Formats: sequence, C-alpha cells, structure tokens
Amino acid sequence: MGLCIVILAAGQGTRMYSDKPKVLHTLAGKSLLEHVYHTAMGLTHRDIYVVYGHGGDEVPNALQDFRVNWVEQKEQLGTGHAVQQALPDIPDVDNVLILYGDVPLITEESLSTLVDAASTTGFSLLTTHLEDPHGYGRIIRDENSNIIAIVEEKDATEDQKRIFEINTGFMVVKAGLLKRWVNSLGNDNKQNEYYLTDIVAKSVADEINIAPVLAESNIEVKGINNRSQLAEAERYFQLVQAHHLMHRGVGLSDPARFDLRGDLEIGRDNEIDINVVIEGRVKLGNNVTIGANCYLKDTIIADNVHVLPNTMIDNAVIGSGCIIGPFARIRPDTTLDEDVHIGNFVELKKTDIGKGSKVNHLTYLGDSHIGKDTNIGAGTITCNYDGAYKHQTIIGDNVFVGSDVQLIAPVKVHDGATIAAGTTVTKDVAENHLAISRSDQKAIPKWKRPVKK
Ligand code: UD1
Ligand code: CA
Repeated sequence: MGLCIVILAAGQGTRMYSDKPKVLHTLAGKSLLEHVYHTAMGLTHRDIYVVYGHGGDEVPNALQDFRVNWVEQKEQLGTGHAVQQALPDIPDVDNVLILYGDVPLITEESLSTLVDAASTTGFSLLTTHLEDPHGYGRIIRDENSNIIAIVEEKDATEDQKRIFEINTGFMVVKAGLLKRWVNSLGNDNKQNEYYLTDIVAKSVADEINIAPVLAESNIEVKGINNRSQLAEAERYFQLVQAHHLMHRGVGLSDPARFDLRGDLEIGRDNEIDINVVIEGRVKLGNNVTIGANCYLKDTIIADNVHVLPNTMIDNAVIGSGCIIGPFARIRPDTTLDEDVHIGNFVELKKTDIGKGSKVNHLTYLGDSHIGKDTNIGAGTITCNYDGAYKHQTIIGDNVFVGSDVQLIAPVKVHDGATIAAGTTVTKDVAENHLAISRSDQKAIPKWKRPVKK
C-alpha cells in the first residue's frame, strides 16, 4: 500500500482577471503550483498526478521539471470529475491524497496527520472552523458528531449556512473506494458539477467512517481566488520566512519589509536593512551587511562585504571585503575579487575586477577584465558595442585611469600604464606608458557672455 497524490489544478481562476492560469501566479517567486508540489514531494509517496485543463499545455510547459504525471481534464466539470481523471492508473490498495494547486500554504505536518488518520477507516478529511465560512462547503455531522455530508454554499439551506465548520477540500481516501464513489457521482446540484464532496454521503451509505482532522491553522487551508488573497498569502509567507531567518541569526531591521523570492543561504552576523528584495539563489558569507532598498539575485557574496543602499546585484560573484554602492548596478557575469570598491552610479556587466581595485564613481564597464590594484576614474566608459558586435577591454594591474576616459574596445591597457583624464583610448597602451589624447586648450581674453535682451 502506497500513497498517491492528486493535485487539482484545472480550474480557471476567473476572479484573478488574468490570461495566465491561476496556479502559475507566483507567491514568493514560485508559482502556486510549485509550492504545492514541493510540499507534496516532502511526503513519502509513490506517484504524483497533476490534473490540468484551463490554459491548455501552458501549465505543464511552465513546469517541465516536475516529476509528476500530467493528466488533462478537457472540460472542467467539477472537482469529482477532476479527481476521476487521475484515478485509472492508481492501484486500489493505495491511499489517495487530494491537494489543490491554488492552496499553496498547506503544511507537510497537516498532511502527514491526515495521511496517518486515513489508515484506520480508509477515509480522512481535513476541516476547520471559520468565523466567516461564506463560500465554503459546510460539514454536516449527525447527533454522534460523525461527518455525514458536505453541502456546498450554493446548495445549502439557511440553517446549514450557519455552520462554521468547513471542508478544506484536503482528504485521503483509499483508491478502491474513491474510484467506486467518483464513478457514481451525479451533477444534480446548483452548479451542475460533479462534486468530489458528494463522496461523503456515499461513504455513509457504505458505512465507512470518516476520520476528521482539524487543520493546524486557518491560513494554511486558504485558497487563492483573487489578487487580494494572493497578496495576503504573500505577506504571511514572507513574515514566516523572515522570522525563520532571524531565528537562525540574520539581523533584519524590519521583518515586514523584507522579501525573499527564492533561497537564501546565510552566514553568521548578516545584517539586512529595510526593503531588501532577494531573488533566486543568493548566498551570503559571514559579516555581510546589506543596506536599505537593495535587490540581489542569483549572487554569491563572500565574507565582510558591505552592500550599501540602493544597489542591484544580479548573477555576480562578490569577493570578501568588497564595498559596493550606494546606487551601484552589478549586472550578470560579473566577478569581483577581494577588497574591490564599487561606488555610486557604477554599472558593471560581464566584467571581472582584480583584488584591491577601485571603481568609485559614474562608470560603465562592460565585457572587460580589470587587473588588481587598478583605479578607474570617474566617468570612465568602456565603449564595448560597435552597433553590431561586443568587444573586450582588458586593463592590467596597477593601472591608473583618469576621469572621463573612453576606452574604444577591443583595446588593451598593460600593467602600470596611466591614462590621462579626458583621453579617448583607441590603441593599446604599453606597460608603464602614459596615454593622453587631449586637444590644446585655447584662451580667449575678455570673453563676453551672451546676455538676455
Ligand atoms: C471546493 C469544495 C468545497 C470546499 C472548498 C475549499 C467541492 C465541490 N467543493 O469548493 O467544499 O470548501 O473547495 O476551498 O469540491 N478544479 C479542477 N477541475 C474542475 C473543478 C475544480 O481541477 O473541474 C480544481 C480547481 O482548480 C481548484 C480546486 O479544484 O484548485 C477547487 O475547485 P473550486 O471550483 O475552487 O472549488 P470550490 O468551489 O472552492
Ligand atoms: Ca573627452
């Protein structure tokens, strides 16, 4: 006997008002369906089935690395019909756990409890009590408090609408029973849908008791139906991540103003100021500080690095002791060795910079290689693009580049060279040479400035 997991993800998500299938909308940088998938992967299981439909192949195409069986539900005829599509290949002795692609916060703990509870009768159901149960299926119990039915909001009587215990939708059912029940569902209800929830009444007829499990928290069973609920889930999820990081030693100035959309590997004594957004896979060494309003994506940062406010770093490797920003933009494929200083309004792309070099002000370096202990003056620009091709600029060790220099790539400046301020470098510069290209300064005496009439 094994566990098969069926994730329902065929619904349209009308209330998102989006062309994108609902389950592909993101929470903390991952699609809703990815969250559910990762939780499912945490449970010991035999197979996972994802029922998709609305949006066609868009969902399986977007999530090709999932190790699941994709099952198409061509028409969305209801949750019972959706489950039915996944069942044929599942052995009767297996238990089937039903999950929802749009309920992303469900925890592995609740699901494990639910799976365990099903071992007694072959049917367990996760319920909870809501102050406002509107829209949910209500749990109907008999005088002995056994669950005997689920009634959908649209089909409920006024009395039933006053029941606060609701169906979360999560359940575990023995496959043999589930097949028999879903194959006999009717759609004689307000929505003309094949309701999965109608299997409850069928289990009563078959004298199979339902083992009820109460959800740990209400937030984890909440579905995402509109963008407000998505934003609410996002803030909740971010706060949980923030506290988790703080408990592991990260200093966050304000856990409510921190966003992690991916995975953050931390060191000791990391301090992160407000409004920092971290995306993809980011790794921080020890004693790293990140200033306010920084954006870090897919980046590795070594020890003792200070990233000053309003800096963006994307796909870079930053060596220990570097100081970056404020207002720096480090673009993909950039590598900084130890103790490099990158100052304000500096943009780097596909560039590596050697140990101890400084690029402190208003500079663009692209497709370039800079040696160690080199100083790049304010306003330096590598002219790396000729309109058709990109070219390399190579600058050696201990080079001094004055302010307002253009380097017309491809060009090479050898070790120890000096480039005078205002120079346009069009030819390679030899070791220890000075390169200067500057028109003579003229002096015109008694110059009359124009005046407004
Ligand atoms: C369902 C339950 C309700 C429960 C609520 C919890 C039924 C009949 N009702 O109602 O008791 O309180 O969930 O959130 O099950 N889906 C498909 N194919 C379909 C229809 C739905 O894949 O043909 C998927 C949807 O994408 C969604 C999930 O099933 O992920 C639930 O469907 P939805 O229509 O949202 O059900 P609710 O009306 O919310
Ligand atoms: Ca100039």
